Amino acid sequence: MIPYGRHSINDDDIAAVVAALKSDWLTTGPLVDEFESALEKVVGAPCISVSSGTAALHCAYAAIGLGPGDEIITPPITFIATQATAALFGATVVFADVQPDTANIDPQAVAAAITPRTKAIVAVDYAGHPADLDELRAIADRHGIYLIEDASHSIGSIYKGRPIGSIADITTFSFFPTKNLTTGEGGAVASIHPELLERAKRFSRQGLVRNPSEFKITDQGPWHQEVHEFGLNYRLPDVLCALGLSQLGRLKDIKRDRDLVFARYVDAFQGFETIILPTVRTYADPIWHLFPIRVQPNSRERIFIKLREKGFGVQVNYFPVHLQPVFSKYINRNQVFPNAESFYSQEISLPMWPGLLDFDAGIFDAIAKVIRNA
Ligand SMILES: Cc1ncc(COP(=O)(O)O)c(C=O)c1O
Repeated sequence: MIPYGRHSINDDDIAAVVAALKSDWLTTGPLVDEFESALEKVVGAPCISVSSGTAALHCAYAAIGLGPGDEIITPPITFIATQATAALFGATVVFADVQPDTANIDPQAVAAAITPRTKAIVAVDYAGHPADLDELRAIADRHGIYLIEDASHSIGSIYKGRPIGSIADITTFSFFPTKNLTTGEGGAVASIHPELLERAKRFSRQGLVRNPSEFKITDQGPWHQEVHEFGLNYRLPDVLCALGLSQLGRLKDIKRDRDLVFARYVDAFQGFETIILPTVRTYADPIWHLFPIRVQPNSRERIFIKLREKGFGVQVNYFPVHLQPVFSKYINRNQVFPNAESFYSQEISLPMWPGLLDFDAGIFDAIAKVIRNA
């Protein structure tokens, strides 16, 4: 089975991990700082590394002090971690519909969903394509609320010439194996505000305060550390930072390969009228994490099953989050998100990963042919 996504690991990655394993450090050591500095150069804002994209979101919400009574506005087309980590702080999750072409949150729908309790707008760069960040930024600024970007899909993507990570108040990344860059499990938080990044960092490191100038208890010895707000252990170990550093060094090559896969699909689907290929807005230069096509809703399941039968491990991203049973007690069922539901009813994610270029070039035509004949 050719999966919809797969990691790209080369000999340099392996050598970097082996070298880390032979060093004095397994968990927090010098490679954590090195990885975080290298990340900053790519995403354009200071970063902390964490143990997953879910952890990164949890830290982002901790940093803004999200809690009961607060609302966040999110898109239904995402992985549920975008919402779960906020709901677990007791915040109310509000949905705003997506744009029909990109499946990214629609700024007009966001503007209509703002209330006095809204604390943050949370955009997701679906499939790697940046959301409409300037429009969302303008709404956030008008209401004095935060813009958080779940960029789990989009490390290395560019929005109007600016790297993803340098625009929202807080940006979160995932380094799961199917993503554009991997550390096995892993993630990062970037912020253009040092105090928010510091709060995220403290939350990710058990809430520990180590700087004596901040101590509330001052009669203890040099071993003393204290906790002012609860935190968790979301540290990314040195061994995985070694892999991340090596992967970052070849992110440009990974982008080139994913661009090539994208171009091969565009060629293969030439003249195929009933298939809608992913949109690329003029201002976006995405690294494609997914290759989401849209087919007629009444043929989606048939095509999906045929592709799987032929060995193509396609996926559907995503079942709209507001329809998940866990939300049944929170959501007003009269609320509908027609663009999200329509996008979901048509979507199939075709295989998208650099190693596809090692297969016979006919693989893309073969996929198109299965769809044509389904
Ligand atoms: C949009 C989105 N947000 C959050 C996550 C969570 O990331 P992780 O799997 O690294 O915890 C994912 C990963 O699947 C995702 O796709």
